[in-house]
Amino acid sequence: MAGPKYPKIVGFELVEQIGGGGFATVFRAVNVAQHRVAACKLIMFTEETTEKERKTFDKEMRIHTALKHENVLEFMNAVIVELKHKLIYIPGIYMLLELASGGDLFDKIAANVGVSEEVAHLYFNQLIAGMHYIHEQGVCHRDLKPENLLLDAAGTLKITDFGLSAVFRLKESGKTRMLTERCGSLPYVAPELNSDRPYHAEPIDVWGVGVILFTLLAGNTPWDEPSAKSAEFRRYVSGEIFSEDPWCRIPYEAMSLIKGMLTVDPEKRLTLRDVFQHSWVMRPSQLASSRNPAELAMRLTQNLRENGDLGLAAPNFTGKSDDAMDVDGPSAHKSQFTQSLMLFSQTQHGSRYTPNLTRFYSSLGPSLLIALIKEYLEQPDVGVKCKLGAEPIVNERGIEVYRMRIGGWDARKQMFKGWVDVEKFAYRGEEGAFCLMRRDEGSPISWRQLWKAIILSPAVEPHVLRK
Ligand SMILES: Nc1ncnc2c1ncn2[C@@H]1O[C@H](COP(=O)(O)OP(=O)(O)O)[C@@H](O)[C@H]1O
Ligand SMILES: [Mg+2]
Repeated sequence: MAGPKYPKIVGFELVEQIGGGGFATVFRAVNVAQHRVAACKLIMFTEETTEKERKTFDKEMRIHTALKHENVLEFMNAVIVELKHKLIYIPGIYMLLELASGGDLFDKIAANVGVSEEVAHLYFNQLIAGMHYIHEQGVCHRDLKPENLLLDAAGTLKITDFGLSAVFRLKESGKTRMLTERCGSLPYVAPELNSDRPYHAEPIDVWGVGVILFTLLAGNTPWDEPSAKSAEFRRYVSGEIFSEDPWCRIPYEAMSLIKGMLTVDPEKRLTLRDVFQHSWVMRPSQLASSRNPAELAMRLTQNLRENGDLGLAAPNFTGKSDDAMDVDGPSAHKSQFTQSLMLFSQTQHGSRYTPNLTRFYSSLGPSLLIALIKEYLEQPDVGVKCKLGAEPIVNERGIEVYRMRIGGWDARKQMFKGWVDVEKFAYRGEEGAFCLMRRDEGSPISWRQLWKAIILSPAVEPHVLRK
């Protein structure tokens, strides 16, 4: 007898996993009859799920459903399968969300380089527009970080993941409360969360927004954590850090805004209202007014192009991709933006959509390539844990792939997990391979750094195909 299945959610079927964090697994979902795609975030229930956990999942759903804004990922529908139905369906909360076809914003950003001021300005403005709306609804996000900032098919920023959010102001009475839970990831968390006193909600998100602006412009977060344990944070507080790279590279006006948002005392920190009136935010934007998705994609990935990362991810040696067969089913993600971003890669079986730029081609066959990658990652000084089956598997698309689970800790002491998939790819009549790295937990920036380190490792490097 077949085991329990995923239910259909208003006609949408779960197709393949595209992400997953602590509690959740995210799938691409397809409504075949209506030719529509979506994402489905599943939080599974087990016998061990506590009442308290159930309440937080319900809260995420309730809060996210109520938020409707251009820069907030759209919540479309939800289905709850209770444990008593576990013989038929996999129990859990199924949240049907708009599919962020452009993938993660920070997957497109060169590590330790960042993006131009123009691009940072555009996305920063979208971020604060979304955050202003969220706060206006009385909600505090509390988990702002690159992993939770996605792009839609037109390249518009979408804030998502309300798993740690909280209502701090009641809409009816206007009554505001202070919050008490300690939460969020250390590199993005505000310093007042180090103490166990209650804290004001809004300044927490302003701090997170400040760290994100720095990360856009510098290509990395400013510190591991905002406490005396971090040497960088100590040098920030003392002011020594401003003469060091990357701080000294950030233009004066943007720096003044960052310092205002990253003010240690929450009472003196800029409010979102102040941020909107800051001269760096108010400056006119050519990029915003031109509304040209192809140009936006070019500008966003300019530094990836310049440092060669884009040439590795999308060598484009196979000629025009437009002619290739699309093996991807209904493709609502085919837009000028996603095409210019080169989110479609050539495989043995035609053109394949993937929201990630962490991929490359090699002149070695799959079994050899995956073995070399594993050997590199397992070196003591790299220290990534790998789990690889002896045989290739047949994936969701019916294609044979070597699939390896990997996980470890990044330079900012954050955990990451993901998959390395290697499939066959004929290159000039010889057997080569296509390697795709899919992250499901951790920072997209460190994921990109790991991808680059694999490509540059001595055993792999000679076999990598470039533009
Ligand atoms: N609507 C979506 N479209 C595309 N990718 C998504 C979508 N929602 C989530 N993801 C991917 O899945 C990851 C985890 O989703 P998220 O909602 O942040 O779950 P968690 O609560 O486990 O962190 C995201 O970082 C992102 O890469
Ligand atoms: Mg998340």
